[in-house]
Amino acid sequence: MGSSIATCLLIAGHPVIGIAAVESDLLHAEKRILDNLHLSLKEGLITENPETLFKNLRISSDYNLLTESRIVIECTLESLEIKKAVFEKIEAVISTDALLTSNTSAIPISDLQKFLRFRKRFYGLHWMIPAFTTRFLEVICGDESEISGAEWLYKLAHQWAKEPTLLKKDIRGFLNNRLMYAMYREAFYLVENGYASVEDIDRAVRNGPGYWITLMGIFRWMDLTGIPAYHAVIKDLFPTLANTTSVPELIDDLVKDGGNGVINGKGFYNYTPDEAKCWADTYAEFSFELRKLALKYPADIVERKLSGS
Ligand SMILES: NC(=O)c1ccc[n+]([C@@H]2O[C@H](COP(=O)([O-])OP(=O)(O)OC[C@H]3O[C@@H](n4cnc5c(N)ncnc54)[C@H](O)[C@@H]3O)[C@@H](O)[C@H]2O)c1
Repeated sequence: MGSSIATCLLIAGHPVIGIAAVESDLLHAEKRILDNLHLSLKEGLITENPETLFKNLRISSDYNLLTESRIVIECTLESLEIKKAVFEKIEAVISTDALLTSNTSAIPISDLQKFLRFRKRFYGLHWMIPAFTTRFLEVICGDESEISGAEWLYKLAHQWAKEPTLLKKDIRGFLNNRLMYAMYREAFYLVENGYASVEDIDRAVRNGPGYWITLMGIFRWMDLTGIPAYHAVIKDLFPTLANTTSVPELIDDLVKDGGNGVINGKGFYNYTPDEAKCWADTYAEFSFELRKLALKYPADIVERKLSGS
């Protein structure tokens, strides 16, 4: 994620300092970022020479280089202890008016905030991989964050080709994960209770919401397709939806059995090494196509069309 976010910021024209939190980052990060920039040229995301953008990057293990930074994005492993130790090193060197953010996937921002000395300027900045193609970005306030900093990040993120969302009050899972996990829970319920196969659930999601969701989200979809019908269905359907609070057996057994998806070929589906690689490559290829479509149809598409802009 760190390399992918650095690529996005370089493309936006920012000078970027990448702090190598572990030695291996020094070996791999530069090549990853340069490869991302070359891919971005090939896919038409940039017109500049990748080497020119790359000159705005400096990678080092010296945290002192962060003294002039306006925004710091922590992107270390999803561990409270590791993030706490890294925050201490960052806070020791950054200026008091710099904004400090975390790309945590799921740790509540207010929990991380408790580790900090300057809590008002701390936010969640939740990216989606690959961060230089996706339009997604959540800006998240913790209990003690100042809203003005979040609003500034939200505005700035538009210059990173994002269509960001602002979560004004911290809640576990933030927006995206809460919505997705509600769907995962129902999907596990349907498979475990013999209603449908994993393959059929995936086909339903791909071709049901997957068909319209990039254009309009879910509330506008209800506007377009008849609110009273949703009202009627909610009354009868909500009481029957899954509401388990425990980990579903299907994923529990898989994890106990060592399943790690495409990484070891063993997941809800099985993969040969070639299939696993081809899925990763196909997702990368698809994300460029989807980005083109999402840019062609931004959230304000109708306002733009009606104003002729
Ligand atoms: N992978 C995703 O799709 C994704 C999406 C959104 C958010 N995130 C979040 O981003 C963060 C990073 O995830 P990732 O997928 O890039 O992980 P990763 O394993 O690819 O990278 C983790 C980085 O953490 C650092 N690190 C490793 N061990 C360390 C240590 N002991 N002390 C200090 N730093 C150490 C290194 O810089 C390493 O490159 C996590 O909080 C994750 O939840 C990941």
